[in-house]
Amino acid sequence: PLIFVLNGPNLNLLGTRQPEIYGAETLDDIEALCAETADALDLAIDFRQSNVEGELISWVQEARNHAAGIIINPAGYSHTSVALMDALLASDLPVVEVHLSNIHRRESFRHLSYVSRAAQGVICGLGPHGYALALRGIAGILAQSEQ
Ligand code: DQA
Repeated sequence: PLIFVLNGPNLNLLGTRQPEIYGAETLDDIEALCAETADALDLAIDFRQSNVEGELISWVQEARNHAAGIIINPAGYSHTSVALMDALLASDLPVVEVHLSNIHRRESFRHLSYVSRAAQGVICGLGPHGYALALRGIAGILAQSEQ
């Protein structure tokens, strides 16, 4: 099964962007971790990043016809985008939301994620490892739905 792994705005800057919050690993490092983890789980991934809200929404719509699940770090759009939430709700796919940082430990405007309302599970605060856990979670959901 193919899983879309979607990354929102500013995540292309990982490694140099506020490393005290987001760590030293780059988005390429995270992609490599995802590829390795997916391989071990017999999943394939399509790993993408965009700074544009509408592009993320189009990818979610595309996933509907092409993927078995979505892992998404919506970054800043988590806290603002009803449209991204709506696209995920319409996808009818299992969705796992990931944040590198623990959003609940940070500013109050980060405590609400619209995207969480469309997610089966949410992982935050575990850095890049959260993506690997999300892949495991999706694999578990898919295995269960096959039964
Ligand atoms: C983030 C948390 C968001 O609040 C923030 O806007 C980001 C990254 C995270 O991965 O910790 O850009 O999604």
